[in-house]
Amino acid sequence: MRTYLASAAETCDCAVAAVHEEGRGAAFGAAAKALDKAAGGALQRAFSSGAALPKVGDALLLHTPKPVVMVGAGKKSAGLSDGDYRKIIAAAAGALRKTSAANAAFYLDELAVKGRSSEWKARAAVGVVESEFYRFDELKSKPQPPGHRIKSIAWIVPSAARRKLAANGLQEGGALAEGANLARDLGNLPGNVCTPAYLADRALQMRRSHGLQVTVLEEERMAALKMGALLSVSRGSREPAKLIVLKYNGARDPKAPPAVLVGKGLTFDAGGISLKPAANMEDMKYDMCGGASVFGALAAGARMQIKLNVVGVIPSSENLPDGAANKPGDIVTSMSGRTIEILNTDAEGRLILCDALTYAARFKPAVVVDIATLTGACVVALGAPASGLFSNNQKLAAQLIKSGDAAGDRAWQLPLWDDYARQLDSPFADIANIGGRGAGAVTAACFLAKFTGDFRWAHLDIAGTAWGGAPRKLASGRPVPLLVQFLRDCAQGALRDFF
Ligand code: BES
Ligand code: MN
Ligand code: ZN
Repeated sequence: MRTYLASAAETCDCAVAAVHEEGRGAAFGAAAKALDKAAGGALQRAFSSGAALPKVGDALLLHTPKPVVMVGAGKKSAGLSDGDYRKIIAAAAGALRKTSAANAAFYLDELAVKGRSSEWKARAAVGVVESEFYRFDELKSKPQPPGHRIKSIAWIVPSAARRKLAANGLQEGGALAEGANLARDLGNLPGNVCTPAYLADRALQMRRSHGLQVTVLEEERMAALKMGALLSVSRGSREPAKLIVLKYNGARDPKAPPAVLVGKGLTFDAGGISLKPAANMEDMKYDMCGGASVFGALAAGARMQIKLNVVGVIPSSENLPDGAANKPGDIVTSMSGRTIEILNTDAEGRLILCDALTYAARFKPAVVVDIATLTGACVVALGAPASGLFSNNQKLAAQLIKSGDAAGDRAWQLPLWDDYARQLDSPFADIANIGGRGAGAVTAACFLAKFTGDFRWAHLDIAGTAWGGAPRKLASGRPVPLLVQFLRDCAQGALRDFF
């Protein structure tokens, strides 16, 4: 989808404008007034002759005869919340899907969103529209009935002063949507297509497409590095593990300490010998969504030419039962030298991540953020609205929360106290890989925390946020928006003391 900025009426197939409530009547903003005038009063007539005023999140399609989507925008004086603004954009996109318009003019810069700029409004709108129109049909053998796609959007900003901001927002929104769609596409691919080798190939393509430096470590190299935890997981699978490293150097100083993103790339998680139940096991193709979000964040960051050095590390493997697979009670030695008693082979994410975290230290990171569909317990705790956030540094945690809020991709912090870490004590090894019944998301994070050396680190558990959302059950592209906003905020001086 192409987006472009315009100052006034465009020759588009369709227009989108807001209608507010006032008393019991319809109150038009400046744009709707102008459209109404051009249509000889047809919009006003529709409401005065009984059309119901759309509420926030609803839209009304009118024909003047040109189609006009009127989106409900609540009381004008109130000022919208971020969430209401996104609902309004989603309603507009939903209504557009029902038209045959190839291009649409959005007259929504005039909406007042509390504390948000024209840049923010344009960026958020592109993200929401792209996600509303997202489809995944590359594996259907026949072309699908043309689920309507919009080709371009004209974003109308009458004020010259705001136009520069909005133009920036559109551009960033486009880059962000590209990254989120990459993460969605990789997530939606099935486990027989999206294997560790497939992810490694896709990474190598990003040299040309995004100018990234890409390295793929094979199992021999991992063995030489003594990554015994990661390799123990892939031993039960016929697909060799890959450790993918993506580098983007955008900082003025190429040696400036990078932000390192570590993403779980488990391309299918059957649980191993601690086999999962059959119901919904197909969802475990999504167990690489953390890794996919690292691909997406680097793609978007490179597209935006973010002034920051960023390294992505993606340990990728399958987790299957086989004669060579990990067995409950096995003890493996991680790259850090710590021994791990594997009490449940289904707690494999932390096994591949712990070696990737140890490996991350070599980049002398300013911060390390890992992203993983790590625990069912996190889904129970927070559901789909928020990713679980854990950190050994409160400034880093606060910034991630703030960036997530701005991006409409929220995270909520949970504790990392020693009281929980004790649940991981093992009589046989340095640490056990599970911590018993209580607080599963926390003990998983406590496990990872043991492998973070002395670097600043945060962990995002995206088990509840990476996919789902009835009825489509597709990958969400989260937390690409949070990560990209975070990188951008860091590039603009947030966490200045760290970089
Ligand atoms: N990939 C799963 C976590 C998961 C489960 C994500 C459901 C999304 C939905 C992870 O590898 C796993 O199996 N975790 C176990 C840990 C347990 C054995 C301590 C879990 O959550 O059940
Ligand atoms: Mn598992
Ligand atoms: Zn898993």
